[in-house]
Amino acid sequence: MEVIVESGAHAIAVRVADAVCELLRRKPDAVLGLATGGSPLPSYDELAERCAAGLVSFARARGFTLDEYVGLPPGHPESYRAVIDREFVSRVDFGPGAVAAPDGSAPDIPAACRAYDDAISAAGGVDLQILGIGADGHIAFNEPGSSLSSRTRIKSLTRQTRVDNSRFFGGDVDAVPAHCLTQGLGTISEARHIILVATGANKAEAVRQLVEGPISARWPATVLQLHQHVTVLVDEAAATGLELLDYYRETLRLKPDWQGI
Ligand code: F6R
Repeated sequence: MEVIVESGAHAIAVRVADAVCELLRRKPDAVLGLATGGSPLPSYDELAERCAAGLVSFARARGFTLDEYVGLPPGHPESYRAVIDREFVSRVDFGPGAVAAPDGSAPDIPAACRAYDDAISAAGGVDLQILGIGADGHIAFNEPGSSLSSRTRIKSLTRQTRVDNSRFFGGDVDAVPAHCLTQGLGTISEARHIILVATGANKAEAVRQLVEGPISARWPATVLQLHQHVTVLVDEAAATGLELLDYYRETLRLKPDWQGI
């Protein structure tokens, strides 16, 4: 796991965009894993700008989102399908239908979840997964207690996550659905490269657990310690809990140019 501390959200976005552009240069038909929530938005802005400038194309790429609320009517502006379309997909040049999302209104939820995992596998797996992290250590919507080998399935959101996400629902916690569909920790772990973005002091404890805590379902993101290629991009505030911060800074400073992230 590599930890990179950046000065702020823009510098993080540039790193994420560089990684996506480099991947698409090498592999134009790459499969991207796309998080929603606030953390990746500056990266999507950066990528949209580069695409508009002709510096990158998503025309042959595909994408899979991580999760979706259950119980929102189709087309609800805060469904993650609507959010990813609005914030990213519609602003770049993906082909029609190139980005898939779990169907939170499917009549047969277990079948829809199995089909989603199958679709990711049929696409050849995710080359680069962009992740955020919840204050309680969730990735996608794998809340504390999630099986570390879980597949896409229905989950109940914690009160904390519903409070955190109520900002997207006019501050009304009860308007945030209690259930979601989410890629499992096992599903996410199959991505070939994972970039996790965290900014702000309210993420500091989750980042500390993710990087330096014991692997435990109590902090689901700790499963990433078992992955061979994870890049954690944080700002100064999110990095404050890290015991080995000086070592991470030194490692980055001495890193060979050819290595990339
Ligand atoms: C969203 C997702 C969630 C968020 C997490 C952090 O698709 O998978 O795990 O990444 O809740 O949300 P923000 O970035 O809004 O702080």
